[in-house]
Amino acid sequence: MIDSLAGLHERARQRLDPVHYDFFAGGAGAEVALAENERAFGRLALRPRVLRGNDIRDLRTTLPGARAAVPIFVSPTAFHRLAHPDGELATARATAAAGAVLISSMAATVAIGEVAAAARAVDPAAAVWFQLYLQRDPAVTEHLVRHAEAAGCSALVITVDSPVFGHRERDQHNGFHDLPAGLTTANMQDLPGGPREIDMSAAFTWAHLARLRALTRLPLLLKGILHPADARLAVEAGLDGIIVSNHGGRQLDAAPAGIEALPPIVSTVDGEIPVLLDGGVRRGSDAVIALALGATAIGLGRPVLWGLAAAGESGVRQVLELIRAELDHVLTLCGASRPAELTPDLVVPRGCRC
Ligand code: FNR
Repeated sequence: MIDSLAGLHERARQRLDPVHYDFFAGGAGAEVALAENERAFGRLALRPRVLRGNDIRDLRTTLPGARAAVPIFVSPTAFHRLAHPDGELATARATAAAGAVLISSMAATVAIGEVAAAARAVDPAAAVWFQLYLQRDPAVTEHLVRHAEAAGCSALVITVDSPVFGHRERDQHNGFHDLPAGLTTANMQDLPGGPREIDMSAAFTWAHLARLRALTRLPLLLKGILHPADARLAVEAGLDGIIVSNHGGRQLDAAPAGIEALPPIVSTVDGEIPVLLDGGVRRGSDAVIALALGATAIGLGRPVLWGLAAAGESGVRQVLELIRAELDHVLTLCGASRPAELTPDLVVPRGCRC
């Protein structure tokens, strides 16, 4: 048992092929957005309240298509079988056991039906959402949606920050482009006309999203929102939630940190739909800062990959338990008994007189 995320990260780094480590760890361009996601939390402090009688705490959180035990989701990340042979099945079991929400990636190495079944075998009420990029061929998008519905997914997450792939210099330098023999993007195999590559397109507009909205009754969330005007458009388009994210610094390197983009988006959305956040959350205190600034739940990308690579299902369980326990601890120190009691006045810039 390793007792810190840094320890699991180090174990993962030792175990992974260095090329695959770089694929998981790296970001776009000069990796400024990647580094800023973590640094921006360090520029914020929590100003706690005291004597609040908060000895009994409750972390339960309601999200579209999910009653979660904790305000935590596993962000969608590609290729879990590069990290561990059990891949997404291990991630699904550990996430279900933690009562967190799993967002399974379209670029998973296990098909969504098997991922969702693995989660439900642990907890029949486990929430699994499916993440997809709109595909140029609408028949492919529709098939992916139907597969997610058939798998029992309770929401869809449309990632909209990737009109083109980010330039990942580590991958270019390492010549990493494809999965090794024996692994596939499992969701892309059983499609009209046979297996397809995942494509990105800069041609999509809000009109394409309206078509998707008409295609399914599942709740829809948009992932990769950083501008408040887009958050407002998402509310008006009838979306059920948004995820503020710079894609873990893997797309636009000049993008702000997720936590810096959050407050104006929370004010624009004004409680109409839940606003979730990911990017750089490594500690319970990061999670509490995000919740206090108005996020309904926080996502973990790389930390889950480090747990998976370090120790499979048990490693992912350790990561989720570490963050849960720290979140509860920091919540207590801040004088709150529920995430909803965390308010923006608890967060101040470091170095200010307050
Ligand atoms: C990602 N991310 C991502 N996002 C998405 O919508 N679809 C995807 O397939 C992937 N794939 C992916 C692979 C890897 C290796 C990483 C690191 C990230 C982005 C992910 O969902 C999330 O936004 C970030 O990882 C969050 O930041 P942290 O927690 O990694 O700092």
